Amino acid sequence: MNTTIINDQNTGDTAVLPERIKGFPFPFSSDSYRYSANVEPAHKIVQTDVGSWGSSLIDVDEYYLSDLKEREKVLEKDPSRTAVLPHMRPAVWDAITTLLPAMAEDHPDTMSYHREGNVCRWTNTLQNLELEFTVGDDDSLPMGPMRFLGSQITDDIVFLDPREDTLWLDAGLVTFAADWSFGFDVGMKFMEVHTPVPRVTTEPVINRAHQFLLRLQPGEQFRRTNWTMTVDRRLDTSTESYPEWARDRGTIANDPDLPNRLHLRVEVQHMLCLPHTGAVLFLVRTYLLPLSDIAQVPVWRERAGHVLAELPDDMAEYKGIIRYRKAASDWLLAGE
Ligand code: HEM
Repeated sequence: MNTTIINDQNTGDTAVLPERIKGFPFPFSSDSYRYSANVEPAHKIVQTDVGSWGSSLIDVDEYYLSDLKEREKVLEKDPSRTAVLPHMRPAVWDAITTLLPAMAEDHPDTMSYHREGNVCRWTNTLQNLELEFTVGDDDSLPMGPMRFLGSQITDDIVFLDPREDTLWLDAGLVTFAADWSFGFDVGMKFMEVHTPVPRVTTEPVINRAHQFLLRLQPGEQFRRTNWTMTVDRRLDTSTESYPEWARDRGTIANDPDLPNRLHLRVEVQHMLCLPHTGAVLFLVRTYLLPLSDIAQVPVWRERAGHVLAELPDDMAEYKGIIRYRKAASDWLLAGE
């Protein structure tokens, strides 16, 4: 922890920083950013300049209930955000019986999970919820297994089926996509899903990721981070809701409130090979922190400022930040 630098800049003791900053998965380890196969084992705690993140598979933080409420609103408006191709039903149960016990273990004060045979009892006091269901019986969960899982974890959920030497995106529930469409991608192969990403054919990252995921063994859990930027604390920046958010990208550079409105958006992405079905589960937890909060950590302020200034145009264009990244970087670096 680099308390010296922080205190030098008169930002005070790290102890007074709010949890949203102390637990933020700040993604930059240097002054420039390029795609890389940045995959590491899950659960490993990462120390940052002001705190840490990464101890649990499913993070339950101060946004847990409000993010789930937001998800419900999105799903009510647009049912295309979730789909389960029939052959993936067992994988969804596999995910439920893998993730709920993991949550209960990480959050024993608020959650508990007991299983006897195929009958499970799940308690989640954060939601005043206590229920019993039978593994494999879709009717034992009133909203169905996929919607139920999406009501207990704030991560977006994607299932990939390994067959024919590739991975097929055949099920999921995605309400907080960063500028892509789950409904459009359902039924596609891993490499097809990544076609819009720049440098896909010239850099080996995506191909390597594909090979890595194909070799995952049942029970293995890994993770990586990815990042972009979003105007306001808006979780749903999917292709479907584009008309609601895209315009802000053209005006934010000249908005005096830019430091409070513009957020660094970090995804902690977990990749699990489910123990019974062998399906690959891809979980995406989205964290949003305004630049005004980033600036409370001087090392982050400078590093983010340099990364935004240096990022090649093709990557900035793809991330949708090209029109405002200079304004953001100028603001972040103004205090240097
Ligand atoms: C396990 C399943 C995975 C799924 C379902 C998935 C899905 C996606 C999707 C939907 C996008 C957005 C594409 C678009 O614009 O339409 C994307 C972007 C991307 N993915 Fe994956 N991904 C997975 C794993 C990985 C892994 C392991 C890597 C490893 C290096 C990776 C690297 C990337 C990169 C570099 C981008 C571009 C991100 C950016 O510039 O903001 N993905 N992925």
